[in-house]
Amino acid sequence: MEGIFITMEGPDGSGKTTQIKLLKQYLEQKGYDILIAREPGGTVISEAIREIILNKEYQEMSYMTELLLYAAARAQLVSQVIKPALEDGKAVICDRFIESSAVYQGIGRGLGVDTVYDVNHYAIGGVNPQLTIYLDLDAENGIKRKKDQAELDRMEMEDLTFHQRVVEGYRQLAQLYPERIFSVDATLPIETIHQILTEEVERRFFHE
Ligand code: TYD
Repeated sequence: MEGIFITMEGPDGSGKTTQIKLLKQYLEQKGYDILIAREPGGTVISEAIREIILNKEYQEMSYMTELLLYAAARAQLVSQVIKPALEDGKAVICDRFIESSAVYQGIGRGLGVDTVYDVNHYAIGGVNPQLTIYLDLDAENGIKRKKDQAELDRMEMEDLTFHQRVVEGYRQLAQLYPERIFSVDATLPIETIHQILTEEVERRFFHE
């Protein structure tokens, strides 16, 4: 069995974790061993980088440093975890991946999407997701859902206009690359979203 690589994207609070759990169960029923990873993180080194990136004491961090740190965490995760799992025939679901950098650093921070893809080209070394799922949610909505939860980290502390740029960025990319990025309305009921996603995965991966 060949490996499958799916990434889940969306603004803070869009419900990625819940959908990943459901998708995992579905792919298990298909006979896959599943590996779930989250970004930034998923290895000891990547988690250490995550601590640096999200630490709200580090307000002086330059946008380029931020981009490179996300890419460094990703490079380690890909080489240590994702690539071996795919070679093993596993289904890998990653909570955020390159498109997060494209929208948060490329568009939100204004570094440019091309710059982000260039840098990340080296970070992932050809290990591209076959499908990226985007859970679409207005920024206001996402922040509200998040604020009910834990203390905010350095990225979440950004103002609403930053998060609106992020959402606009996701929408633009989803429109530009519909074959790569599949967009779903995150305000739909959990079960409905899951059903839409499984139909899409079925069509892309399991259709004769
Ligand atoms: P996390 O707590 O994992 O957020 P969420 O639960 O919303 O996924 O924190 C990750 C934060 O880092 C999130 O605000 C998005 C941001 N991020 C980037 O800016 N660039 C990236 O490449 C990645 C992977 C995440």
